Amino acid sequence: MAMKPIDEIHKRRTFAIISHPDAGKTTITEKLLLYGNQIQLAGTVKGKKSGRHATSDWMEMEKERGISVTTSVMQFPYQDAMVNLLDTPGHADFSEDTYRTLTAVDSALMVIDAAKGVEERTVKLMEVCRLRDTPILTFINKLDRDVRDPIEVLDEIEDVLNIECAPVTWPIGMGKSFKGVYNLLRDATVLYKTGQGHTIQDVREIEGLNNPELDQAVGADYAQELRDMLELVRGASHDFDLQRFLDGRLTPVFFGTALGNFGVDHMLDGLVKWAPAPQPREAVERKVEAEEPKMTGFVFKIQANMDPRHRDRIAFMRICSGKYQKGIKLKQCRTGKEVRISDALTFLAGERDNVEEAFAGDIIGLHNHGTIQIGDTFTEGEDLRFTGIPHFAPELFRRVVLNDPLKSKQLHKGLTQLAEEGATQVFFPLRNNDVVLGAVGTLQFDVVAARLKAEYGVECRYEPVNVTTARWMEADSERELASFERKAYDNLARDGAGHLTYLAPTRVNLQLTEERHPEIRFLETREI
Ligand code: G4P
Repeated sequence: MAMKPIDEIHKRRTFAIISHPDAGKTTITEKLLLYGNQIQLAGTVKGKKSGRHATSDWMEMEKERGISVTTSVMQFPYQDAMVNLLDTPGHADFSEDTYRTLTAVDSALMVIDAAKGVEERTVKLMEVCRLRDTPILTFINKLDRDVRDPIEVLDEIEDVLNIECAPVTWPIGMGKSFKGVYNLLRDATVLYKTGQGHTIQDVREIEGLNNPELDQAVGADYAQELRDMLELVRGASHDFDLQRFLDGRLTPVFFGTALGNFGVDHMLDGLVKWAPAPQPREAVERKVEAEEPKMTGFVFKIQANMDPRHRDRIAFMRICSGKYQKGIKLKQCRTGKEVRISDALTFLAGERDNVEEAFAGDIIGLHNHGTIQIGDTFTEGEDLRFTGIPHFAPELFRRVVLNDPLKSKQLHKGLTQLAEEGATQVFFPLRNNDVVLGAVGTLQFDVVAARLKAEYGVECRYEPVNVTTARWMEADSERELASFERKAYDNLARDGAGHLTYLAPTRVNLQLTEERHPEIRFLETREI
């Protein structure tokens, strides 16, 4: 019998992984898919050195560089839950994309390399999670290596990230003598076997901390050390508290090795048990509850040409309330247009599938023919605008010069479409025919040039341009804006979506212009 929509919604767990590059995000993703029965043998998602590559790694360039440029969505059932994992690009240059993806989740998993502790990117991503008090689970990875003292790592997480740690499991040994973990909540030890990383292991569990079987299994020294250690840990750390976790104040901590596929399932058990089902979401007009019968959603990412054979663009929409059903009529609130949607996609482990229905918490992919923008809200008719999806002003700028001047139309189209994905911005100065590309990181420029060539048949190069920063303009009246447009004409441009922007040659120039024109608001982010 089909479940009621509300029950389906309550089953959803939509989360993303935050971590510093190399902490093990890809490896964990792979193991999660193994538990979700989406792949038979772990190791098929990615192996940088082995030549295998992730089904989500669709671009030659990212294979070459070994970074994951794309964000993909993976849905899998686990126990009674339906888990949605939103992959986030790990490279710093793609942080904008990651930030927006984090606006579409209800919880996050923080992965820490136990040898390295809290690293810089994790700090930044935690700041983003803080903006919405997103509940965080923590997985401390690579216990099969010689790593730092676990207590020291927990202290560092508490100090640097300002979040309380509640260990749910505790490791026994490390490196070559990693024996397993003790589960503090279940009072049971789970033993580790090496060389089983590609499969779901048959694990042996020993109930009770004082069970002599434990001494036999891990050795009397390790068993005693564990007992002593736990006394210390229990005194010095926090007990798990569901409400504090949901408030984003406390994180349950799990230890293990993603490579050895050990401990990841403990974390997954915690996720489906404790992480929140789809949360209410703020729109300008009102707060929208996930259980509302009518469907609403917003677009947090647009990705072009995911499959080179299809050459299409997909807008990723997070469903905020209600249910998507094939053939549903939705209103795109920004344009007021109504569209019938009968070919939304889900991404089951990278496979594209037409879905018949999807529920609040799920992500669906809409085919986009250039009419959908990041931040667009869709409803069944109500005028709503979900808030909190940022566009950041780029910090690096280049003039784009065509090798073949006759291809200017393709160039404009390519840059505008790529800008819709949100990682770059394109600007068309009012005073000349230049094309200026803005990005948050330098790697973006290479990605754009490679994709222009591969996907649009346009070859280009970059030249320096005298722009330091960009600001979007807003004013109380159209008249003020028009008057400013006349005065500052030489420094103004339109971005890919047609918004007026000020391209400042220097920070001082921006400051002076801001002082001279108090009637104009110069915005560093354009919230959509
Ligand atoms: P990322 O997506 O966060 O960047 O990390 P990824 O999973 O790619 O892992 C980075 C490296 O760390 C990989 O090694 C991976 O095999 C290794 N790794 C991940 N988890 C564990 C673990 O639990 N224990 C150990 N010992 N290593 C782990 P690599 O040599 O860079 O690449 P590969 O050839 O193994 O893919």
